[in-house]
Amino acid sequence: MAARALTLGQFIIQEERKHPEASGEFTSLLGDIALASKLINREVIRAGLVDILGYTGGENVHGDRVQKLDRFAHQVIHQVLGSTGQLAVLASEEDEDIVPVPDGQPVGKYVVNFDPLDGSSNINANVNIGTIFSILPRLTRRGPGTVEDCLQAGRRQVAAGYVMYGSSTMLVFTTGDGVHGFTFEPSLGEFLLSHPNIRIPERGRIYSVNEGNCVHWHEGVKRYVDWLKCDDPATGRPYSARYVGSLVADFHRNLLYGGVFLYPADKRNPNGKLRVLYEAAPLAFVAEQAGGLASDGTRRIMEIAPSSLHQRTPLIIGSPQDVRECIEFNLGKHVAVTSDRRHAP
Ligand code: AHG
Ligand code: MN
Ligand code: MN
Repeated sequence: MAARALTLGQFIIQEERKHPEASGEFTSLLGDIALASKLINREVIRAGLVDILGYTGGENVHGDRVQKLDRFAHQVIHQVLGSTGQLAVLASEEDEDIVPVPDGQPVGKYVVNFDPLDGSSNINANVNIGTIFSILPRLTRRGPGTVEDCLQAGRRQVAAGYVMYGSSTMLVFTTGDGVHGFTFEPSLGEFLLSHPNIRIPERGRIYSVNEGNCVHWHEGVKRYVDWLKCDDPATGRPYSARYVGSLVADFHRNLLYGGVFLYPADKRNPNGKLRVLYEAAPLAFVAEQAGGLASDGTRRIMEIAPSSLHQRTPLIIGSPQDVRECIEFNLGKHVAVTSDRRHAP
């Protein structure tokens, strides 16, 4: 007989019962994020049908072309989260500055940093895209949230995760107690628990990197990727190359199958491409909670407290054995990657 279906709402209540001391405030934020993601999903799956695609002609703060769906996702999340009373402030990849709670709405205790639409270059091809979110407790005590509230190290996160819009839409998150995946059932309009307690394999057989950039790579990265292509059945090499170009999709596949994703620093981009607050930190929390690792090559991603909202970082993330090997190659020596107790798998 099939296992009983558990909705996201039921799961959240069940988790709250395990922690009677919790106020339940931030878990209700998760429900709000799920609602926002259903609204975004509705537009994503209709995107080819309605006149929502195409460039607005604008550029975001990173110089990327902004597509309408990015802006739509940003606005939906702002509207849904901004009126619940839980939120102190938002920071979004799509906005240069912090995004305050809308006028007249109550101000709460939590900060949400998010990438409204990840993988936007794939929108027009109907390839997987996603939303990434990070929830932190505010640092300031009262009044509107500030930029300092947003600029916290990833280890301060109380929850993080992503939604992947694809052949099935999934919500995957952690609240510091393992990683759980929910699949959206469109006819019910519900996220159902489909992947409880996800654990990433110790080692994978997949590497994910934009190899088109190899001419700009540093020697360590070149040597590592060359090494992955050598024949050695003991370590499963040669590995398979898989690269979607949507971080959410590449990360999600490697989380389930095992493997390593890297977006390294290179000679053109000394800080890599991906953003600490909206991409690296939330996925690092998920990775560690699933038994994986995330590093910038020398530091645990979770330890990085950025000094600006859109700060970038090199990222190596995935199966622990693979991440360790990649770091060794990068540096030419072994560097320990530690996990603090709270986030230790
Ligand atoms: P975004 O669409 O939010 O700007 O993110 C794009 C990111 C990430 O999703 C992906 O891993 C990476 O950019 C791909 O970059 P390249 O095209 O340089 O490989
Ligand atoms: Mn992104
Ligand atoms: Mn984005």
